[in-house]
Amino acid sequence: MAFEPQFFPVAKTTDIAPGKCAPFMVEEHDIIIAQTKAGDFYAMKNLCSHADAKMDTGRIRGNHIMCPLHGARFDLRDGSHGPPAFAPIKVYELRVVDDMVEVFIEGPPEKKPASAMGMF
Ligand code: FES
Repeated sequence: MAFEPQFFPVAKTTDIAPGKCAPFMVEEHDIIIAQTKAGDFYAMKNLCSHADAKMDTGRIRGNHIMCPLHGARFDLRDGSHGPPAFAPIKVYELRVVDDMVEVFIEGPPEKKPASAMGMF
């Protein structure tokens, strides 16, 4: 059966404290959901584009998250990056319905080509 792109309920809004993020697996996508101190929610792939660090222990500053390994700063709104990262991180469409955070999943996660493994 073909995958049907849709919003999936992931967490309650109270599961993620303001200024924090938490990891979740959604249809095989390893993601974080972050809540800014201003109360906005964002979803992003839980993998830094620089050297594959998990982002779930990154610090939230305003609308950005800092990678815990080398400190690259990523905009939670669009995934855009600062140094030393050289590429953005995928972000996911998110909506809050009542007290539930829902994330839009387009399809199965992209598999990294073997030739790219270990490169940064
Ligand atoms: S692994 Fe994230 S900045 Fe290097």
